[in-house]
Amino acid sequence: MNRLNWVWLASPLLFACSETVRQDSSLQPTKPQPATEQFEASTDYHSFSNPDQIKVTHLDLDLTADFERSVLHGQATLSFERIDHSAKSLIVDTRDLKIASVTVDGTEVEYSLKPADPELGAALQIMLPKTASQVTIDYQTSPSASGVQWLTPEQTAGKQHPFLFTQAQAVHARSFIPLQDSPQVRMTYDATIHTPEELLAVMSASNDPDTARDGEYHFTMPQPIPSYLIALAIGNLDFKAMGKRTGVYAEPELLASAAAEFEDTESMLELTEKTFGPYQWDRYDLLILPPSFPFGGMENPRLSFITPTVIAGDKSLVALIAHELAHSWSGNTVTNATWRDLWLNEGFTTYLTYRIMEQLYGENRYNMEAVLGYQSLQADLKALKDKDEILAIDLRGRNPDDVFSDIPYEKGALMLREIEQKVGRENFDAFLLNYFEHFAFKSITTQSFIDYLDQTLLEQYPEKLSKQRIEQWIFEPGLPKGAPVPQSDAFSNIDKLRNAWLDENIAASEIKTDAWTTHEWLYFLNNLPQELSEEQLNELEAQFDLTASQNNEIAHSWLMIAVKNEYKPAYDRLYEYLVSIGRNKLVKPLYRELSKTSEGKAFATKAFNEAKSGYHPLTIKANQGFVEK
Ligand code: BES
Ligand code: ZN
Repeated sequence: MNRLNWVWLASPLLFACSETVRQDSSLQPTKPQPATEQFEASTDYHSFSNPDQIKVTHLDLDLTADFERSVLHGQATLSFERIDHSAKSLIVDTRDLKIASVTVDGTEVEYSLKPADPELGAALQIMLPKTASQVTIDYQTSPSASGVQWLTPEQTAGKQHPFLFTQAQAVHARSFIPLQDSPQVRMTYDATIHTPEELLAVMSASNDPDTARDGEYHFTMPQPIPSYLIALAIGNLDFKAMGKRTGVYAEPELLASAAAEFEDTESMLELTEKTFGPYQWDRYDLLILPPSFPFGGMENPRLSFITPTVIAGDKSLVALIAHELAHSWSGNTVTNATWRDLWLNEGFTTYLTYRIMEQLYGENRYNMEAVLGYQSLQADLKALKDKDEILAIDLRGRNPDDVFSDIPYEKGALMLREIEQKVGRENFDAFLLNYFEHFAFKSITTQSFIDYLDQTLLEQYPEKLSKQRIEQWIFEPGLPKGAPVPQSDAFSNIDKLRNAWLDENIAASEIKTDAWTTHEWLYFLNNLPQELSEEQLNELEAQFDLTASQNNEIAHSWLMIAVKNEYKPAYDRLYEYLVSIGRNKLVKPLYRELSKTSEGKAFATKAFNEAKSGYHPLTIKANQGFVEK
């Protein structure tokens, strides 16, 4: 079998066709099927690219944002290294891109765009002249690119200017840049972005807060990063410094409140460095997005993208910032090699988040957040199939977007917590510091982690840790017997009060909630019985005014209760919530719950249809199954 054929076999097509491929026409990916072939742990089943043969090392981007047509157009120049000198073509990923030309040193070269897979896009195969070391692709994006959201002025805080942002993780970078869209491929990048003059562009790269606002912006990212960390946003953005190395970009309307809410970011950065080693990325800034941002946050290097829904006014939801910051170590410095290994990013980051929160806000807050995380994990464990409870999950034939759960996050973190408890915190911290240094700027598989653990902690503490136990955590569903169970004294008190109220021993007015934190509220609400009487709901509402809560997490928990019990007084607020927020974690459970009755589904459909033009493509895809066609 020749080299090219081999590439196609080792690529995602593996889950589609196992025949040796001879002709371009037979490269057609069919719909991803559950794989039966031998599983290869280091293969990225979500990229068509061929880094084993030719590996892209640097990207030069020159893009213009056309807000009239909702397209990005320009050139991507890819510099590469030849790993296999007999390889004749470079294969990159694309999704809904229109390719105008591919050139080497100004001369057009032959290329072919393969038929598109609905989830993974289309491979672009570029025939390379023998001596070429870079290619330039002239292209434009589609207005419906899965990784780009174009917002009208009405969808922003200021209502005057349009806004654009990208979201590349997991497999959407290919919808706005033709590249080897695999976390195994790390590249440096330079970019020039052209925008309407009054707007500012920012990227996951060096951003100069004092840059002249002239519609042309330059960026460099000197550290090699995987493609899913390339990010761009354009809007009417201002900057406010929070500390020496930290600041916020936001629309002017949100800037002061964001900077106040997140003023502890600099301290978070400093204390994380102290325990886990130097911050490798120079500055750490936040970008506050419009409410349609589909995630809580995204750890784009040097510039985390953050939902505005966590600006609660009391710093109660800043664990999100600790989380995105912690990714600077776990994720951005040491990166998962494939999406199967996502838990290496998210589990380590969730563990680090808890540690940061504990150090900055004390044990009490840490305990409460850990219990809430644990409860959320338990809910997922109840709902998920066994195969989806495995840390090193088999994602062949599946889109990583469709498999989002607490498993990589909370189960991953709980395993690390157990190791910490067994070997002692100081020893575990030393291990983590070495781990981040040892694998810095590398993309690693679950197996690399296990092998490293084998040579370090497992060898140092054979009486405390066993490889078998680690493998049970990583490769088996559920939680191993004896796994740590987080506890909070503050919550025990909430349990007493809730039970006393449910047993009608006290009235809601006798529950003293003045000093309750957001976490206590969430624990109180999330642990009420599924079914409550109208009388009980009225009493809670009259006493605590929950429908009016401006804390988006508390409102979410209350609205979930309202939907489960068809508590109509909350439905205006529910409607407003669904049409004004696009963060999937907050809206999806509501849509899912509403879809369980026909009346609920009609309500959900109305809200969804109104909100749809403002929702991100990922939020649309995740929720359209819950509403009427
Ligand atoms: N990197 C993730 C977001 C992500 C994961 C995007 C997988 C696409 C695929 C980010 O760091 C994250 O975990 N966000 C969470 C934060 C929360 C756990 C604190 C979110 O958005 O809810
Ligand atoms: Zn994360």
